[in-house]
Amino acid sequence: QWTTASIVDDTVQAIREQVGDRRAICGLSGGVDSAVAGALVQRAIGEQLTCVFVDHGLLRAGERAQVERDFVAATGVKLVTVDATEQFLGALAGVTDPEEKRKIIGREFIRSFEQAARDLVQGSEGDVDFLVQGTLYPDVVESGGGSGAANIKSHHNVGGLPDDLQFQLVEPLRALFKDEVRRVGLELGLPETIVHRQPFPGPGLGIRIIGEVTADRLETLRAADSIAREELTAAGLDRDIWQCPVVLLADVRSVGVQGDGRTYGHPVVLRPVSSEDAMTADWTRLPYDVLERISTRITNEVAEVNRVTLDVTSKPPGTIEWE
Ligand code: XMP
Repeated sequence: QWTTASIVDDTVQAIREQVGDRRAICGLSGGVDSAVAGALVQRAIGEQLTCVFVDHGLLRAGERAQVERDFVAATGVKLVTVDATEQFLGALAGVTDPEEKRKIIGREFIRSFEQAARDLVQGSEGDVDFLVQGTLYPDVVESGGGSGAANIKSHHNVGGLPDDLQFQLVEPLRALFKDEVRRVGLELGLPETIVHRQPFPGPGLGIRIIGEVTADRLETLRAADSIAREELTAAGLDRDIWQCPVVLLADVRSVGVQGDGRTYGHPVVLRPVSSEDAMTADWTRLPYDVLERISTRITNEVAEVNRVTLDVTSKPPGTIEWE
């Protein structure tokens, strides 16, 4: 019978047969797929697996801790975190064009991951032969049935790896749909916060700051985003919405008044959407009292933001993200 437990057992067995006593590396994105793929391979080969998490400095509040603390606690996985914030912010300095930002973030991501892979390969523990990827069944179908030797899914922002880093792929989720992946994640003991995480783009907050990405602006957006997420969770709405980007209009200012003083701050946009697959989306009719709490808290608690606006555009014509 095809139960979640039997999917786990069969997959673990297949990974053991493929990898044997050799070593594997797995890039964690913070998302569901790479987490479940990593957890399955860890269950199969334990210490022979090393997970790598690149912190590009464009993450939301608490995300790094979720990987370093919660994922490691749930799986016992061996984890290397690369702190590449300065490298990414340096590369993004002065850049405002959305596609340019994506290109730079993708490129720096490959660089960091590559460096970490090289350090591991050249480390004392011997060669690393396998690269774990969270490719799902729909990805396999979409790409015409097969992925190349070491091509990491481009929407995970890791393109091809250099020729001198040759890995064989381990793709434990290849036969599974998203809902099955989530069930496998729960079966493996991963926390709900990881298994039911809403989609978050690889380029992170970098494409939610309209204008140049700077450390100060990231701090502002992170604070506003964290309030919105807290209130949506408290209202029990997480499962009702697909995702709710918070966007900082960093180059726009408007006049406001707080206490006795005039302010000249930035607006943020709330972009709650409902969707089945992100190809189309509708703007979510959030309850007014929830919107009010988010707005009041953001303008009270985040000094640089004096206005909260709501995006009521569906997709199409709008995309979900603003960049
Ligand atoms: P759009 O904005 O195109 O977004 O309507 C559709 C879905 O994709 C996510 N998204 C991305 N994910 N890298 C990613 O990994 C990206 O560059 C990227 N751009 C958008 C977005 O959050 C939404 O779920």
